[in-house]
Amino acid sequence: MSSAVRFHDQHVDATGVSFRDDAIAGLSLARKRLAPKYFYDRRGSLLFEEICRQPEYYLTRTEEGILADAAEEIAALVGPEALLVELGSGASRKVRLLLEALRPRRYLGMDISHDFLLQSTRRLAADYPWLEVHAAWTDFSERLCLPVGLEGRRVVAFFPGSSIGNFTPTEAEAFLARLRQALPRGSGVLIGVDLVKDRRVLEAAYNDAAGVTAAFNLNLLERMRRELGASVAPDDFRHRAFFDTAASRIEMHLVSECRQALVIDGHRFDFAPGETLHTENSCKYSREGFQALARRAGYRPSAVWSDAEGLFSVHYLASG
Ligand code: AVI
Repeated sequence: MSSAVRFHDQHVDATGVSFRDDAIAGLSLARKRLAPKYFYDRRGSLLFEEICRQPEYYLTRTEEGILADAAEEIAALVGPEALLVELGSGASRKVRLLLEALRPRRYLGMDISHDFLLQSTRRLAADYPWLEVHAAWTDFSERLCLPVGLEGRRVVAFFPGSSIGNFTPTEAEAFLARLRQALPRGSGVLIGVDLVKDRRVLEAAYNDAAGVTAAFNLNLLERMRRELGASVAPDDFRHRAFFDTAASRIEMHLVSECRQALVIDGHRFDFAPGETLHTENSCKYSREGFQALARRAGYRPSAVWSDAEGLFSVHYLASG
């Protein structure tokens, strides 16, 4: 590891729940499900990067356009000397659009994917020699605290990509409230939120023609086989993504194409033909709907930016 990146290993979550335990618990439910955080092993993280380049997946390029256009305004709101913390930093690409305008002294990338985190923060440290770069390997959905030495500093928490949409609205409100409590006074949250729109646009984004989202979804089964020694036939499942208007969310499922069993560590889970494993929700909001949620979590929404077509939004929430 480059000495330029200060690495903090926080990957002991508060609950001690592992992929194996979560998979067994989720597959035991009447409606089988698994948390989307398990998509992001190394292959899943790479596939997600590829999803972001698909023509149908408008979210990434639209958010990048908004951030590039609003960088100076964001910098004026955030003010100097804040610690920039990126939640789910992934490839740390979007933050590059803000660094020159914000000029923070310190950056902390937090991610659940260890190798990916190290690689991307090393690259960031090499490209921005004036920036003190920290990396925390952590599951921030379970455990939210700043590493030793960084506590007490005013923070701007950057949570791009509409990852907040992968929580249900109730979970999102609780997560944002916990984040607010973990932030020192005067901090803020810069957060990307996908907007509700024509279902054809939404469904195309999660069913790209190249099949990358399908591969991303099916990788979850391959990961079970690789890491848990699961007996499972990924070829006998197919990807399904659809927009549920009432819940205002895209749901992703793995649909069993036949009667079959998935076995983990002696635990057997039977699938009927057509039965699904629910792998992800991706909630879509109106601008006002998300601001109301943020207020309930204790924030003061102080700015929102959008693109000309109204596809995506970026909010600045003052933590009070
Ligand atoms: C990371 N997250 C915001 C993505 C989304 O759009 O919900 C994950 C994803 N799933 C399928 N495509 C992209």
